[in-house]
Amino acid sequence: MKLFVYHTPEEVPSDCLPGCAAVIDVLRASSTIAAAIDAGAEAVRVFRDIEPLLEASEGIEEDKRIRAGERGGQKVEACEFGNSPLAFTPENTEGRQLFLSTTNGTRCSESVCNASNVIMASLTNRQAVVNYLATKRPGTVWLVGSGWQGSYSLEDTVCAGAVIDGILIAEKTPLAELTGNDEAIAAVALFRQWQDQLPELLMSASHGQRLLKMRGQADVAYCAQLDVLDTLPIQRGIGTFVQRKPEDL
Ligand code: MLT
Repeated sequence: MKLFVYHTPEEVPSDCLPGCAAVIDVLRASSTIAAAIDAGAEAVRVFRDIEPLLEASEGIEEDKRIRAGERGGQKVEACEFGNSPLAFTPENTEGRQLFLSTTNGTRCSESVCNASNVIMASLTNRQAVVNYLATKRPGTVWLVGSGWQGSYSLEDTVCAGAVIDGILIAEKTPLAELTGNDEAIAAVALFRQWQDQLPELLMSASHGQRLLKMRGQADVAYCAQLDVLDTLPIQRGIGTFVQRKPEDL
């Protein structure tokens, strides 16, 4: 198993696909998808754009769906919810389909949707990601940061480093044996440097700063938590994520 880190979807190779692609958008899309699945969502359906989201959700009864949209950190008018992971509770999410479109995370998901396996990774469900990869052992794994409109996001790289570090510890594999590119080694170094100060790192990161200006303190603090959800959203049908089942191995 070789793990590669790509800071944005634009960086992934165009001539091949991995055994598994992990979509990372710590602030906030992948954290939100893990939270919604953990709150009992039947499925999370991701869309790059709002129009297809509205069309696809039109046929679903109102009490069986939730529409959530975010642009620039703000809620999209046509949707009931924005992209806060704290908005999804068992009371408002259990048994419903969540239709989600965000600035970067759902776009990133679309860019790797044809990989054999696609999972959602965040700091909150990092150990669940490590357990899946350490058991499934795909030949090639892409850890793909969603970034911000094509630019680098610190929080996505520290999450990629946390996943690799978790596997290194679980497998006692030499770093050079497990990592497929220098970005992966740098990501581990970043995580080891900041693993005890993740809230500080996320609040210092450019998108963390952007959210703090929108009174997003609670979201940033939530997304900075490590290993608090034993939930692994896995793609079952293009753009549809459900909770991984034991047989998914
Ligand atoms: C994104 O997809 O860019 C993020 O999730 C944005 C956000 O929710 O703040």
